[in-house]
Amino acid sequence: MTSPVAVASLPGSGNVAVPDGLDLLRTARALAERLEAERAADRVVGLVPTMGALHAGHQALIERAAAECDVVVVTVFVNPLQFGDPGDLAAYPRTLVSDLAAARSAGASIAFAPEVAEMYPSYPEPPATTVSVADVSARWEGACRPGHFDGVATVVAKLFALAGRCRAYFGEKDFQQLAVVRRLAADLSFPVEVVACPTVREPDGLARSSRNVRLGPDERRAATALWRGLVAGAAALAGGARRPESVVAAVAAEVEREPLAELEYAALVRADDLEPAATVDGAPLRLLVAARVGPVRLIDNVDPLAVDFHERAGTVATRGTVGTRGTVGTRGTVGTRGKGGV
Ligand code: PAJ
Repeated sequence: MTSPVAVASLPGSGNVAVPDGLDLLRTARALAERLEAERAADRVVGLVPTMGALHAGHQALIERAAAECDVVVVTVFVNPLQFGDPGDLAAYPRTLVSDLAAARSAGASIAFAPEVAEMYPSYPEPPATTVSVADVSARWEGACRPGHFDGVATVVAKLFALAGRCRAYFGEKDFQQLAVVRRLAADLSFPVEVVACPTVREPDGLARSSRNVRLGPDERRAATALWRGLVAGAAALAGGARRPESVVAAVAAEVEREPLAELEYAALVRADDLEPAATVDGAPLRLLVAARVGPVRLIDNVDPLAVDFHERAGTVATRGTVGTRGTVGTRGTVGTRGKGGV
């Protein structure tokens, strides 16, 4: 970690130590002007949107951006519009000081951490203009968390509008979000290249998540049921299952064996538009799972054909995703027709 040398006084947040080599920006205007200046100096801008509580998954995105871009900005903003449950919003970890250090050590040189009023002057009233991406938002997370993807699409559209031409890094961990963001960037003609990054996992397979810190010890052990379920589904496919329902049943059975886990959905979908797969052949597939473990809702997914069952005794890894631009395409979906529109 870089040692802090500057202290920024932040309205409503007290003083924050800012690591050497990192500029902390608090206003939309400062961000837009700074990135304009970077591009004017011929630098390629990398954007990593986050809600903070940075962990190894976020750091992998920042490191990838730093390897591929000249200047990296990490945004840290707990976006209230994407939380349906006020309790979840209140409980979301806020750790700006350590986030700034983590962002710097992973290779960022700019952090953008606005107050809620800076992003949404009318808050707690929602902004008049919101963004809603039809079709790809509808199922799975969209069905379980009404309004969630409208909140994500609205804040990401604002960040893209402020950032201007850039490469933006998103994790496959939130596979449906990635599809929503790709669709948004294409449909609204943002000059943004969306780059997909593979999921970073704990050694026991649990996908890294800012919410994992809220799991008690027994729940933390139980949380591996999602990964075990995905592996069971991939194994069913590798073992010759011919119907999507059999693959999904293998995931569900494994999750349901765990008493502390409550399955919300398991699905085998087409990777491009997230519609349920009609067959196990053909288009790239994705296996999705969501479950509640204690107070925490967890999601995970894999490319079921990229699970490597021989990686190491006792563990299973995915392969074939590092270094790619991701697998979510935009073919086969129809246009945005969301309620709020832009
Ligand atoms: P957050 O959950 O903080 O995640 C920020 C980015 O990190 C997302 O692109 C997410 O997919 C990625 N990420 C999280 N865990 C990961 C892991 N284990 N491996 C790889 N990538 C991981 O996603 C959001 O914030 C918000 O919805 C946001 C896009 C910032 C809009 O508010």
